[in-house]
Amino acid sequence: MRFISKAAAAAVFAVAVAGIAGQAAAQQKPEEALEMRQGLFQAVKMNFGPIGAFAQGKAPLPADAAAKAENVAALARILPMSFAKGTEALPGANTKPEAFTSAEFQKGFGALEAAATQLAAAAKAGDEAAIKAGVGAVGKTCKGCHDNFRKE
Ligand code: HEC
Repeated sequence: MRFISKAAAAAVFAVAVAGIAGQAAAQQKPEEALEMRQGLFQAVKMNFGPIGAFAQGKAPLPADAAAKAENVAALARILPMSFAKGTEALPGANTKPEAFTSAEFQKGFGALEAAATQLAAAAKAGDEAAIKAGVGAVGKTCKGCHDNFRKE
């Protein structure tokens, strides 16, 4: 029962974020796309951070770790649309120009989604070793993309 309500909460969250993303895309203002992008990354950090802290032995496993990991997977699906045309050279943007034409960059979001989905499965199973391995796999996708495509 507890799990069902958490999954429902994650679904509502994903729908809400998708709604915000859809609006911004419809209006096609580059500044809004950038705001959305940076907000989505903040949401990634807020959902992934507590599970990462557990993996590092700094905090207990969050009770809703599976839902948090599912949120990260949903955010990874939404993020690509925030790298819209017109956002390449905005003040405050921290994305290298080559990201906008890179297939590898796009694949990075798919890798994040896949790793976060695996992490959610490990959290559902309550398998602590698999959760720690899953955090490592997700973290690799963050770092891999930041090293290549995020400005210092
Ligand atoms: C496929 C590429 C990619 C992946 C995967 C990725 N990031 Fe990022 N991230 C970026 C880029 C590019 C920026 C800079 C965005 C900008 O401001 O233009 C960024 C920015 C951020 C920011 C700063 C947002 C702000 O407020 O300016 C945070 C926090 C962040 N990422 C966290 C994460 C975490 C945590 C993960 C993994 C769970 C992750 N990212 C995975 C590419 C990626």
